[in-house]
Amino acid sequence: MEKLVINGGNPLFGNVNINGAKNAAVAILPAAILASKGVCTIENVPNIEDINCLEIILEYLGCKVESSCNSIKIDSTNIVTTNATIPEVRNMRASYYLLGSLLSRFKKARVELPGGCPIGDRPIDQHIKGFEALGATVTIEHGAVNLVAEKLVGTTIYFDVVSVGATINIMLAAVLAEGTTVLENAAKEPHVVDVANFLNTMGANVKGAGTDVIKITGVDELSGCNYSVIPDQIEAGTFMIATAACGGDVTLNNVIPKHLESISAKLLEMGVEVVEDEDKVIVRSGNNLKGVNIKTLPYPGFPTDVQQPMSTLLTMAQGRSIVNESIYESRFKHIDELKKMGANVKIEGRIAIIDGVKNLSGANVKATDLRAGAALVIAGLSAQGKTEVEGIEHIDRGYLYIEEKFKALGADIRRVNI
Ligand code: EPZ
Repeated sequence: MEKLVINGGNPLFGNVNINGAKNAAVAILPAAILASKGVCTIENVPNIEDINCLEIILEYLGCKVESSCNSIKIDSTNIVTTNATIPEVRNMRASYYLLGSLLSRFKKARVELPGGCPIGDRPIDQHIKGFEALGATVTIEHGAVNLVAEKLVGTTIYFDVVSVGATINIMLAAVLAEGTTVLENAAKEPHVVDVANFLNTMGANVKGAGTDVIKITGVDELSGCNYSVIPDQIEAGTFMIATAACGGDVTLNNVIPKHLESISAKLLEMGVEVVEDEDKVIVRSGNNLKGVNIKTLPYPGFPTDVQQPMSTLLTMAQGRSIVNESIYESRFKHIDELKKMGANVKIEGRIAIIDGVKNLSGANVKATDLRAGAALVIAGLSAQGKTEVEGIEHIDRGYLYIEEKFKALGADIRRVNI
């Protein structure tokens, strides 16, 4: 077991390179199962724990997987089983993308119910509704989802909620189906578009990704291809907010500024300087930031995955801020930890009422989920004195070398064994 030890108070200066997007990569790797010939070479893949888990799962299914630095080659020609029932499947959320991919190519799949961050109820009813609409029979037994279909036939599916996972999963299931599938009320997140682009590079016919109607015309087969994953919107947001919290001047390289607009807009409203360039964003921050109100929404709204880092920043902003978490019912677990550091926050259901304090003060805190972990690191970096963050296995699921990157920007942070 490890923890992060942070001596807070240093401003951040310099350059940081943002990784490939976790939530795109964790869908693109399972999508590689769809290639019945050729090899998928995927670049700009973050070497994080969730990716390591997926590599193990793909090898278990019979894929040949070779990884070096940020590149992964996957040969799915000779898959030997459609039963994904090893512990790694339960350790992560994105293992549910195996359902769409295996069903699509083999017309059957057995996948253990996914795990992931404990941030509230996370049903998969919209995924199941989509698989059934395409012609699959779905049963859940002994903690696993079983899918079987004689054939998959395109149809129109209206999602009752905007779901990233269901949109991607049904895209995966529909790319080899007979006829055309129309997804209405689809998610528009950048990673949905990235997965659609990957599928099209493999030979699929997916149109409209990035809007709320996606049209998929089935093709006979898909092949390997070369593809590079988009930059991580959430990692970028985390470093932007950390710079705002600590003060300083940081250039984030390898970003798509358009994907960061909802975050940049809130930082500007608070009094942070944000300058966008082609593939970089410069963030400059001093003192006296103003509190703002936030409501998390599907893209292009403010991302729920950035809410926890952002609410940490707001605990140190002047005046009152209201944070409305509209996507998940229990994504405020970091707040109790922030209170140990002197934050003044009241939670009422999905609303956090934050009255800014001048400074947080270092304390021993524990991360309960991935973005809570990032939020506590930001709190520690900006607080006065020493903070120890436990539960950093959650952080490692989604951030690569978080302490190395902050150290290179001037932070006093190190990883130690407990
Ligand atoms: C993805 O989760 C991300 N995970 C999450 O990132 C992110 O918070 C979330 O999208 C929203 O942007 C991955 O991509 C692996 P959803 P997902 O389906 O797909 C409800 C992070 O920190 N819903 O878009 O599981 C659901 O309860 C993680 O990187 C249903 O009701 O999220 C939620 O309220 C955490 N029925 C809302 O929709 C369903 O069948 C959005 O969930 C599916 C979802």
